[in-house]
Amino acid sequence: MAIKPLIDASTIAQRVAALGADITRDYAGKDIVVVPVLKGSYVFAADLVRQIDLSVEVDFLGVRSYGDGQESSGVVQITTDLSHPIQGKHVILVEDIVDTGLTVAYLRENLVTRQPASLKIASLLHKPARTRVPVGIDYLGFTVEDVFIVGYGLDHAQKFRNLPYLAIITDDSH
Ligand code: IMP
Repeated sequence: MAIKPLIDASTIAQRVAALGADITRDYAGKDIVVVPVLKGSYVFAADLVRQIDLSVEVDFLGVRSYGDGQESSGVVQITTDLSHPIQGKHVILVEDIVDTGLTVAYLRENLVTRQPASLKIASLLHKPARTRVPVGIDYLGFTVEDVFIVGYGLDHAQKFRNLPYLAIITDDSH
């Protein structure tokens, strides 16, 4: 297993600051609810909310995706639900990475039934090569190739979330 740095901490910080400024501008005068999807987006979301100069509530969604190994099946179970209703509120769902798109598509459908005033998607990363369900990402950090990414909240077998930068993990056993 080898770790190869991909995007350094200061590049991430600059991009997150730009996304926060975009959100601040787009929602000027409104209150918003930021909904990080656990666990992968917790680092991104923590940095993002501190770059948003608005009245912000934060509420979490925990999900488990059933699939064979690293492949998402699209069957998503909500393991931790929001603690407050979002009816009539402006909601931004925050993901770490949109890979096949199945998780975000499922969550969007689920959250829309709760009748928010609006619902947008922020994702740190997008892997367009693996798209199975196209999802519009309103606030995107970086587009990446079809490689497995760790760090800045993203894990491999629950490890590496604490890396302050984004890295590619490669299996160099063969
Ligand atoms: P999707 O439903 O295929 O879009 O899967 C999204 C979820 O799969 C993400 O929220 C991550 O938890 C996980 N995931 C997909 N690709 C990666 C990766 O490269 N590194 C770490 N986690 C990933």
